[in-house]
Amino acid sequence: MTGGQSRGPAIHVGALERSYGELRVLRGVDFEVARGSIFALLGANGAGKTTIVKILSTLLRSDAGTATVNGFDVAMQPAEVRESISLTGQFAAVDEILTGRENLLLMARLRRVKDAGRTTDGLLARFQLTDAARRRVVTYSGGMRRRLDIAMSLIGNPPVIFLDEPTTGLDPQGRIEVWNSVKELAGQGVSVLLTTQYLGEAEQLADRIAILHDGRIIANGTLAELKQLLPPAKVEYVEKQPSLEDVFLAVVGATGQTPTPATEASAPTSKEQR
Ligand SMILES: Nc1ncnc2c1ncn2[C@@H]1O[C@H](COP(=O)(O)OP(=O)(O)OP(=O)(O)O)[C@@H](O)[C@H]1O
Ligand SMILES: [Mg+2]
Repeated sequence: MTGGQSRGPAIHVGALERSYGELRVLRGVDFEVARGSIFALLGANGAGKTTIVKILSTLLRSDAGTATVNGFDVAMQPAEVRESISLTGQFAAVDEILTGRENLLLMARLRRVKDAGRTTDGLLARFQLTDAARRRVVTYSGGMRRRLDIAMSLIGNPPVIFLDEPTTGLDPQGRIEVWNSVKELAGQGVSVLLTTQYLGEAEQLADRIAILHDGRIIANGTLAELKQLLPPAKVEYVEKQPSLEDVFLAVVGATGQTPTPATEASAPTSKEQR
C-alpha cells in the first residue's frame, strides 16, 4: 500500500486539454472521483476516454489544465501517481504463454510484494481462478483473462484503479463476473475510474456517470440525476423510466450537436427521445 494522500478526492481533473496535431480531443474536461467510488466515463468511439485515462496514468502529457490522482499531480509527481494506480487497458495485458499463477507471481515480483506466493493464491481464489491457476492463459476464456487482468492490477493494493473498457468483447456471463469483481473492489475502498461503451454496465456499477462529448463533460451525475435530464415519459399505459441509453442519446444528440452543458437541469427536448 502506498502512503498517498488520504484526503481529498481520488481523482481531480480541471480544464484538461489535449490535442493530437490539429485534432482537439479534450477541450476543457472537468470532473472529480470521490474516494471509494466507481465513476463511469461514457463517450462515443474517439471521444477521448482512453486519452483521459492515459493522461491520468502518466502515459501521456496534457497540453493544459490540471489532473491529480491520489492527491498527486500527474505532471509534477508522476512517480507517486504511478505508485498509487493500476491500469487495465482496453486490451488485456496478460502473457498467454505463462499460466495464470505465473502471470500473477511475475507482477507481484515486479511490484516487490512481500510474500508473493500467498498474495497470488489469495487473488486466484478471489477471482475464481484457483482451478485454472496452473493452465496456460492461452487456454482461458475471455472472461477468465479479464478476471486475471483485474487480479493482476490489484497486486500491491493500489488505491486507484483505471479500467478502460474492462468488458469489451465479453459475453453477458463474463461481463457479470467482471462486474462482481469491480463491485468487490469498490466495497474495499478502492476508487475506480471505468470507461465503457456498455451503458448497462455504467447503470449497474457506477456511483456517478459522466458523458464526454466534443471534448467536454456534457453531463455528470448519479443515474437518478441523469434520468432527470429528460422529461418524464408521457401518456403511456405504463410509466416508462428513461434508460441511461435514452439519456445518453438525448444529451449527445442524434445529430451529434452538443446541447448546452447539462450539469444543471437543462433538459433536451422530448423529440430527441425514441
Ligand atoms: N496517438 C494518436 N495520434 C493521433 N490521434 C490520436 C492518437 N490517439 C488517439 N487519437 C485520436 O484521438 C481521438 C480520441 O481517441 P481515444 O482513444 O482517446 O478515444 P476513446 O474515447 O477511447 O475511443 P474508443 O471508444 O474507440 O476507445 C480519436 O479521434 C483518435 O483517433
Ligand atoms: Mg478507448
